Amino acid sequence: MRYLGHIMKILAIETSCDETGVTLLESHDDGTFEVLGNALYSQVAVHAPYGGVYPNLAKREHSVNLVPVMIECLAAAGALTPATEPVSEGGSASLKGILEREPELFVELQSFLTQHGKPQIDAIAVTHGPGLEPALWVGVNFARALSQLWNVPIVPVNHMEGHIVMPMMQRQPGETETYRLHPASYPLLALLVSGGHTELVLSREPMQYEMLGQTRDDAAGEAFDKVARMLGLPYPGGPEISRLAAQARASGTDCKYVFPRPMLYQNNFDFSFAGLKTELRKHIQSLDELTEETRMQTAWAFEDAVVDTLVHKTARAADEHGAQTVVLGGGVSANTHLRTQLKDALDARGITLLVPPPALSTDNAVMIALAGALRAAHGDYADPATLSAHGHLRLV
Ligand code: KG4
Ligand code: ZN
Repeated sequence: MRYLGHIMKILAIETSCDETGVTLLESHDDGTFEVLGNALYSQVAVHAPYGGVYPNLAKREHSVNLVPVMIECLAAAGALTPATEPVSEGGSASLKGILEREPELFVELQSFLTQHGKPQIDAIAVTHGPGLEPALWVGVNFARALSQLWNVPIVPVNHMEGHIVMPMMQRQPGETETYRLHPASYPLLALLVSGGHTELVLSREPMQYEMLGQTRDDAAGEAFDKVARMLGLPYPGGPEISRLAAQARASGTDCKYVFPRPMLYQNNFDFSFAGLKTELRKHIQSLDELTEETRMQTAWAFEDAVVDTLVHKTARAADEHGAQTVVLGGGVSANTHLRTQLKDALDARGITLLVPPPALSTDNAVMIALAGALRAAHGDYADPATLSAHGHLRLV
């Protein structure tokens, strides 16, 4: 895809799940995107004791942390400006109205405004779905408040498009964190695997999507997290299982267990991980003892089953639709075994695989800023008065 340069600065906000992210991105007229500042606060430690993300707890955490995260991002970019004139009473009342359901956020914003003025930005990009609705609303209402306060337009971003765009960006050599869109050939197939989604999406041309298949029950990341919990591993379980599986694979022995590959030979591109999870529960209950060794072997066999299923179905979808490029996105794309297995399968077919930088595989605001910059160039702005959060927002 050719990106026609459009010089602007975008402030991006991500609050769809348990990461509060803010990024300041500048698009240059040579088609590059420079990350001027980026900050991310992870709520993982807050949710870990519960073994999953609690939507209302996530909402409160975003409300309290969003302004400090924005300050960190703007400070890193050297973009904090001093306050020039106080916000009028009417202006403040209107902000309070927009943030009626996020009172902690209103207090934080008010205190920010006593010290700081408008940073030099041209637009605000915000994730408006999919995700946990109470969490999404915090970002959306914050964007609406800032849009009114600073008189800048809003670009709503679909979180899953953020996960598609991130791997499509190539980091440019040099000291600054600068990206350029990969000259990817279409049709392009995206395998999106996260805590809430497992999807195969076909893109015949830039920013146009067709859903080929999706999970009928649990998402791949959710299966990793639930099985990790059964094995007594901390949340989030994906990285933990992956670590144990890698250790086991390095031992040079054969894997002791084999689990089913769900829906592998069915003639569709859907997934299902609930049955596999039940198999795992039965298997773990059947063990005399959960030792370090059985835990490692179980993690290995489980990861093999999930990765095999994802790779096999992706390769078949790529064959059937003549994909020239495959994009791997979403938190589970951090999984090393998935990356190597998928690369082997696609190399054999002469298909290019694009993956995100490992640190930007899981949720962050850089991907929202990049997708937002592309959407802004497309003129996809929203009316701040009616912009809302959609937990089940779809790509198509
Ligand atoms: O995209 P993401 O950060 O949040 C959602 O939008 O859901 O994905 C989080 C998911 C979690 O389920 C986490 O366990 C999984 O990504 N994950 C991994 C790995 N790193 C994160 N799963 C498998 N292997 C990993 N290395
Ligand atoms: Zn995500």
